[in-house]
Amino acid sequence: MSKIREIQAREILDSRGYPTIEVDLRVDDLKYPGETVMGRASVPSGASTGESEALELRDENKKRYLGKGVLKAIENVRNRIAPALIGRDFPLQSLLDDTLRDLDGTPYKSRLGANSILGVSMAYIRAQAASKRVWTEEILASIFKSSATTLPVPLMNILNGGKHAENGLAIQEFMIIPAGFHQFSEALRAGAEIFHRLKKILHDQGLSTGVGDEGGFAPTFEGEKPHEQALLVIMQAISDSGYQPGKNVFIALDAAASEFWDKKNAYRFEGNLLSSADMISVYARWIKEFPILSLEDGLSEHDWTGWSRLTETLGSSCQLVGDDLFVTNPTFLKQGIEKKVANSILIKLNQIGTVTETLETMKLASHSGYQTIISHRSGETEDTFIADLAVGTDCQQIKTGSASRTDRTAKYNQLLRLEERLGEKARFAGYSAFKRWMS
Ligand code: PGA
Ligand code: ZN
Repeated sequence: MSKIREIQAREILDSRGYPTIEVDLRVDDLKYPGETVMGRASVPSGASTGESEALELRDENKKRYLGKGVLKAIENVRNRIAPALIGRDFPLQSLLDDTLRDLDGTPYKSRLGANSILGVSMAYIRAQAASKRVWTEEILASIFKSSATTLPVPLMNILNGGKHAENGLAIQEFMIIPAGFHQFSEALRAGAEIFHRLKKILHDQGLSTGVGDEGGFAPTFEGEKPHEQALLVIMQAISDSGYQPGKNVFIALDAAASEFWDKKNAYRFEGNLLSSADMISVYARWIKEFPILSLEDGLSEHDWTGWSRLTETLGSSCQLVGDDLFVTNPTFLKQGIEKKVANSILIKLNQIGTVTETLETMKLASHSGYQTIISHRSGETEDTFIADLAVGTDCQQIKTGSASRTDRTAKYNQLLRLEERLGEKARFAGYSAFKRWMS
């Protein structure tokens, strides 16, 4: 038995320089009775958030951090959560998370804030690992009942647009998928080499090599078809690095289309207003011309009719990922499964607000044949929990930005450590993560 002895929360800065919450949670040390050990976790924050995400509680006091302070969330940890948990033992993570949900009592965690709840939920996992002298992913694996031997394929966002850059690209993320390798470390190396090659290509074309929120470049392409220009430079970066686009390295897109959809059911795209059918045609053309294996939020979270059509048209040739569409919420995912909308789901802990619910959504997805992709947020910290989560659940894919910005590489570096620790047992997901969509 390992009782919770102390919970502390503080404001720290995220990768955008806005405050977020970090939680330190102390439990009894199982090895040395009378001593305690600490688990620490911090919570990320999105920019292109889905409307039905759990609530991120901000102070809204314009005099501090432009209203983005999280002192109220911290007060909630201190005054509401800690008194209810201290002195108690939770033999199952789900019992802790249920207690947190009951304390909040609202569907979207709007009373206590999903940020305060998630900070405690993740820190408890870490504290368990510390107390039992095991790794975080081993705790997650025991809950998820997985082998925790899979290293995920990284979806590396090397070119940023949308809300994560100010360069006029509607599509938010252009990612490379280095799937055709035997080891995670080799795939990561390929990704990093392509990233550096892309920098040179952009520089030689007189384009900006400054990076966006997720560490990818954010150049402004001046032509009439900036998105195709973006895809072309990525193709060139792959081949110039000695890899083969469509053979060992592929492309993924996150359109984050809710951000360029307007209420008249039209998409503002490259100077035109397009219907969902028109957008689907654009994607169909790109999928034909470029080795695109994954398309996330291709249409708006409010355009479920369009999504059905998108899935019907492109679902057999491309991974179609619901992010803002499903917000890691089993209720929305169930609707998607019933209506045959999308075939994959992005997994973000803070969209739903507890580790247990995140794992439940992942289970539901895999039982229904939906692929899962663990994801960072555009606002991140040095916390590497999602790398542990990916391995702990044998998840085959992770997207956590480019090969730059420590907030991104911290996760990749943790995966390198896990690969090393697993040694012979490590299995890189590679092509098998995408086999349904590979011709
Ligand atoms: P966000 O972006 O963290 O700003 O929501 C990431 C994504 O859309 O996948
Ligand atoms: Zn997304």
